[in-house]
Amino acid sequence: MTKNREPITKEIIFLRIQYWITLYRWKLKTIFIPKFKKTIPMFSELEIELQSDCNRDCFFCPRYEDRSGIRKDSNGKHIKKFMPTSKIYDIIDQVTELGYRGFLSLHRLSEPFMDKRYIEIATYARKKGLRIWEYTNGDFLKNNPEFCKKLDGLIYKISIGLYDYKNEQEKKEQMKFWRNRFKKTKVTFSLAAEFPVIRQNSKLYDKKLINEKIRNLSCFRTTGLRIRYDGEVSLCCEDDPCVFKLGNVFNSSIKDIWWSENHIKIVNSLKVPGGRNAYSKCRDCLSDVLL
Ligand SMILES: C[S@@+](CC[C@H](N)C(=O)[O-])C[C@H]1O[C@@H](n2cnc3c(N)ncnc32)[C@H](O)[C@@H]1O
Ligand code: SF4
Ligand code: SF4
Repeated sequence: MTKNREPITKEIIFLRIQYWITLYRWKLKTIFIPKFKKTIPMFSELEIELQSDCNRDCFFCPRYEDRSGIRKDSNGKHIKKFMPTSKIYDIIDQVTELGYRGFLSLHRLSEPFMDKRYIEIATYARKKGLRIWEYTNGDFLKNNPEFCKKLDGLIYKISIGLYDYKNEQEKKEQMKFWRNRFKKTKVTFSLAAEFPVIRQNSKLYDKKLINEKIRNLSCFRTTGLRIRYDGEVSLCCEDDPCVFKLGNVFNSSIKDIWWSENHIKIVNSLKVPGGRNAYSKCRDCLSDVLL
């Protein structure tokens, strides 16, 4: 259902193979790096969050219950903050100097197209050799075909959240609409409202669903460098509060944060079955469970 109708060109085949090789290489590398080496490979995904806010309030999203001041304040009012433009460019420069040429997304738990700087920043990142894989709820694109034209081809892939369809027919019509919108950019879909993962701080989260079997799994979801709008670095998709205290890119270099002793120790400890038990965030994590 998520297949694009575009003809599969040599470039697309090449990029697909590259993507899968990058992912599996990371996993294999982390498994086979001898324990005494005490290191980890470079990140295989990158998220730089341009701004903090979202126009939606999806029940399945970890923004939903947040009252910490990161996404919403104690009264549920949305936090609206932007990452300074100079910091965004600095991050792009640092990662490309380190040799990173993989995917970049410009969001975390936010809507990337709420930021007017999007095209300018995506253009810069692309010139630097990064490929943009963006995620969106589509609301800011639906009635803006001119903006979609600017995005088409500038970003490599767009994953559109279809959160409102009432039946299969509507779902198919929405997919058709979006596939017709983009000619060069690959289009995929997120069906998270229908097939949600249970994430902490979402409306679906229930600690009672945790069991020993889940806690005894290993976790390889630490392959990405995910930078929140305020510069804080998350360990994984689930770590929006940045509880692992990996550091802040506004104060330290990306190289120092990624290959810090603390980060390497945490990533390597999670490769081992049961490693989750060492961290309260991981003990409560249900992200491997689909509803
Ligand atoms: C957090 S959103 C941010 C980008 C944008 N606002 C959007 O909705 O696409 C990034 C991706 O996470 C997915 N997502 C969020 N919560 C999810 C859940 N509980 N289960 C599965 N996917 C989820 C969204 O569907 C989207 O594809
Ligand atoms: S899934 Fe996306 S659209 Fe929905 S609340 Fe989260 S960030 Fe916003
Ligand atoms: S187990 Fe820990 S590291 Fe893995 S996804 Fe959950 S919170 Fe993140």
